[in-house]
Amino acid sequence: MDKFPVVAQAGASQPNNIQQHEPSTQPSVAQRVGNDFDVRMMQRCLELARRALGRTSPNPLVGAVVVQNGEIVGEGFHPRAGEPHAEVFALRAAGELARGATVYVNLEPCNHYGRTPPCSEGLIAAGVAKVVVGMVDPNPLVGGGGIARLREAGVEVLVGVEVEACQQLNEGFVHRILHKRPLGILKYAMTLDGKIATTSGHSAWVTNPSARGEVHQLRAACDAVIVGGNTVRRDNPYLTSHQEGVHNPLRVVMSRQLDLPTNAHLWQTSEAPTLVLTEVGANPDCQKLLQQKGVEVVELASLTPEAVMSHLYDRGFCSVLWECGGTLAASAIAQGAVQKILAFIAPKIIGGSHAPTPVGDLGFNTMTEALLLERVLWRVVGSDCLVEGYLPQKHQ
Ligand SMILES: NC(=O)c1ccc[n+]([C@@H]2O[C@H](COP(=O)([O-])OP(=O)(O)OC[C@H]3O[C@@H](n4cnc5c(N)ncnc54)[C@H](OP(=O)(O)O)[C@@H]3O)[C@@H](O)[C@H]2O)c1
Ligand SMILES: [Zn+2]
Repeated sequence: MDKFPVVAQAGASQPNNIQQHEPSTQPSVAQRVGNDFDVRMMQRCLELARRALGRTSPNPLVGAVVVQNGEIVGEGFHPRAGEPHAEVFALRAAGELARGATVYVNLEPCNHYGRTPPCSEGLIAAGVAKVVVGMVDPNPLVGGGGIARLREAGVEVLVGVEVEACQQLNEGFVHRILHKRPLGILKYAMTLDGKIATTSGHSAWVTNPSARGEVHQLRAACDAVIVGGNTVRRDNPYLTSHQEGVHNPLRVVMSRQLDLPTNAHLWQTSEAPTLVLTEVGANPDCQKLLQQKGVEVVELASLTPEAVMSHLYDRGFCSVLWECGGTLAASAIAQGAVQKILAFIAPKIIGGSHAPTPVGDLGFNTMTEALLLERVLWRVVGSDCLVEGYLPQKHQ
């Protein structure tokens, strides 16, 4: 049938790919690798990596720790693309103490000359005795190369400590490498009776302040956040992470009509940049006005979620948050532009037979066609509930 394309999942597909590539170094997900100390050090790597949240694309989030005689003697993380990798900062901080040390890093050290020399060579030159790796490089063409190079040089290597947490942190990066598209996350907030706004379109606020705080954090971790023209006209959102010194995603508006308000919070670009994506020739006056306000306008031949994700991939993005209404959300799901769902559910009832719902028409007629989420987690956030899961890889 293939009404839907195959939707990929970063976390789920990666172990398979890697196993095919280098089965001997891949522990199964259920199997625990390393001792309590190794786990603690890998968690420290993830903590360090998170300091650059939202700033490293197209590169991954990486943290590294150098340990000598059970003591941390150097730490580092990759701050952004073009700057040195985590291992370089950690080795620099350790200095001579790196000799004979154990280095922890959440992603396999690189083994190629990119913008910076390979970290595998840096680790060998520093004389480290052991390297503990969280996860193998997701690129099937290079994965395992850094580990092999280290072993060849006589460095002991342990792979797979906290592998699930490592994959989770870099799920956007992994998706980008494997599928040549950013990871699409659809986030919405709805009432207990499944409405995202009232019949008149009023939607501030469906959820409680803690849930809205979580959304702000989520934005900080994403490269872009997308809404459609209607959401701009009705809600006039800011779409920022609302925190001093924290990363703001690129705010993207998809609009075919381009009959957008002349004044909107999104046109204030001093705090965060805004990109309006439209179709060739749409409303030149509006385009001019937006550009005068510092908004970037790009005309695409055809404005579809797939074309938008392709454009955002070309800009080097790893993760994209869809914060649109139901019409655009349905179109994004149908085109395979969404892999992950985050649904906030507030214990409120608003009613309204024409009040908008989170996902518009998908063309399904029977319950057997429903998209059954996988790896589902339920969590209470303040007075609301958050349901998190991944769309199925194969739609039957
Ligand atoms: N509670 C929540 O989580 C939440 C989140 C977002 C929105 N909302 C509510 O949702 C309502 C708006 O819903 P909506 O579905 O109209 O949302 P939307 O986010 O405005 O998306 C629809 C708009 O996207 C644009 N678009 C561009 N390319 C498209 C494509 N290929 N397919 C579909 N749309 C495309 C069109 O803009 P143009 O008309 O400008 O061409 C279209 O009107 C508002 O009442 C808002 O309050 C609620
Ligand atoms: Zn490197």
